[in-house]
Amino acid sequence: MIILGIETSCDETSAAVVKDGRHVLSNTIASQVEIHAEFGGVVPEIAARRHIECIGYIVDEALGEAGVTLADIDAYAVANGPGLAGALLVGLNYAKGLAFINKKPLIGVHHIEGHVCANFLETELEPPFLSLVVSGGHTSLLAVEDYETYRIVGATRDDAAGEAFDKIARVLGLPYPGGPQIDKISCDIEPTITFPRAKVPDYDFSFSGLKTAVIQYIKKEENPDIPNIAASFQKAVVDVLTDRAVAACLNEGFAQMTLAGGVACNKALRQAMQTAFNQKNIRLYMPKPVYCTDNAAMIACRGYYSIKNGKNDGLNLNAFPGRMV
Ligand code: KG4
Ligand code: ZN
Repeated sequence: MIILGIETSCDETSAAVVKDGRHVLSNTIASQVEIHAEFGGVVPEIAARRHIECIGYIVDEALGEAGVTLADIDAYAVANGPGLAGALLVGLNYAKGLAFINKKPLIGVHHIEGHVCANFLETELEPPFLSLVVSGGHTSLLAVEDYETYRIVGATRDDAAGEAFDKIARVLGLPYPGGPQIDKISCDIEPTITFPRAKVPDYDFSFSGLKTAVIQYIKKEENPDIPNIAASFQKAVVDVLTDRAVAACLNEGFAQMTLAGGVACNKALRQAMQTAFNQKNIRLYMPKPVYCTDNAAMIACRGYYSIKNGKNDGLNLNAFPGRMV
């Protein structure tokens, strides 16, 4: 089965052609990062307008790279939430148009479940497993019971990890998006500042106290040592994410662990997770960076399992900007 996936939930316009859920024939992405960098964050109206400009080209490019035509596409999968309303609507309506003209099924995909499914691309992983999803808008531990059942085991009580990275980067005077910048300047730095690690019950997370502590620290310093602050902040985030992921995985009895979402690109997090799960003899899957950040291959993959289960959302499908798992 060949699926065309479309992703426009935030600031990346992406289309992908994926065979049998896992084999990526193409995955094209037009990033808007440079446009939004000027404003220090994503401007929703600009994002939606840019998606409109790019979507047609990106879909054509995905088909061309995969060496297929619309006649070869068996179904369409589109991220329909959570995300920015205007941005989501562009991908959704484009997918609807293609499904209507070509008389093929259309499936709406939960963006976060899509992130989790990035781990299926080009691997033999099968559920059940636990997933740590760390993105700009989400930080959660999800139990993936089977291909269609996702259960929240833990979640952030305030900011998402990516949000904290972006905010601290801005305070440190680093360009948007801040996560990759903090990752870069923290490289080869041995952090020496101990920032607080929030202790919230269960497997939940909290990053707002850490954010405040870092901002207060910067305000008090006459000559702040930016790389050390960045590395120390990153260490605090990585420690909490890794500790909670290990505890949840062991206590919930999972034999496999996965990482997902944009923050999963972070080198320190990948290394800490790998070391921690090696020690416990638990297999850890981490998508390659291009499948960690927003992309349509993961959306096509998630859509494949719904289509295989006989689902078809049809042309009444709507966008749900605040869609919950
Ligand atoms: O998953 P994603 O592409 O979009 C959302 O669904 O939110 O995640 C974007 C987030 C941003 O906050 C960005 O700063 C963060 O992922 N990010 C990183 C790194 N690369 C992207 N954070 C830390 N280290 C990185 N290398
Ligand atoms: Zn995302």
